[in-house]
Amino acid sequence: MSRAGPSAARPFPVARRDSGPGRLLRIAHRGASARAPENTLAAFREAIRLGADLIECDVHLSADHVPVIIHDETVERTTSGRGAVASFACSRLRRLDAGAWFSSRFRGERIPTLEEALECARGRCGLNIEIKEPSGRRRRAAPAGRAAADPASVALAVSRALKRTGFRDLVIVSSFSPRALHAARASMPHVRLGFLASRSLRGLRAAHRRVGLYAVHPHVRLAALRRVRLAHRLGLRICFWTVNDVRLMRRLLALGCDGLMTDDPALFQELG
Ligand code: G3P
Ligand code: MG
Repeated sequence: MSRAGPSAARPFPVARRDSGPGRLLRIAHRGASARAPENTLAAFREAIRLGADLIECDVHLSADHVPVIIHDETVERTTSGRGAVASFACSRLRRLDAGAWFSSRFRGERIPTLEEALECARGRCGLNIEIKEPSGRRRRAAPAGRAAADPASVALAVSRALKRTGFRDLVIVSSFSPRALHAARASMPHVRLGFLASRSLRGLRAAHRRVGLYAVHPHVRLAALRRVRLAHRLGLRICFWTVNDVRLMRRLLALGCDGLMTDDPALFQELG
């Protein structure tokens, strides 16, 4: 397999596979989010119990710049509160209930900080940390210079959390945002980066040249042999999201994909 991509002069390692072909990365999307409330420690523990290699989780900054794990830029879908994540100090976010919306069994689950997620996974599982960028509408509404709207601030906060916790398991930092990937590379010279794509792989080669990627993470609707081959020609892993059907998992494996994200990591056991 060729390893086209960044030149040797660049300050980051050329992406390469770190395990042999055929070793699928089993990724729990927002934790085991089919079985426990997404992006909570309960979902992460369940993913670990089910043998996931990586937990995918979504990171935003609180108003006081603490990286916290939540998917949406507002809290109402998955917690008992209302409003923008970036408008809450971390201590106030932590008072919200992030489990009852899913089932009364999970009442009392909290929005985890990234550090808590890292402590939970340490020695048991890797983390795929997705840096979210606020929508244009919310960015325009934010006061000038507000750090929570700036991917560089999120990347810096992620890098500090990784340093503080001394996390040594597999980490992939991914984003749809080229600015966030660039900022992540600037604050984490050796971290593995994942290029997220939902409509096409446009911009993949340019991003790889610019920041040195490890993987591409396309939406499953983009599954096609030519895209798997393109990723492999560039020396990248290709991991599809979100796949909740074993027959589809088998088809993607037959295409040669390197990783799959699912809401239910128990499905990996059915793959055999
Ligand atoms: O990281 C893959 C996937 O999580 C991207 O989409 O909306 O589920 O964060 P979303
Ligand atoms: Mg995500």
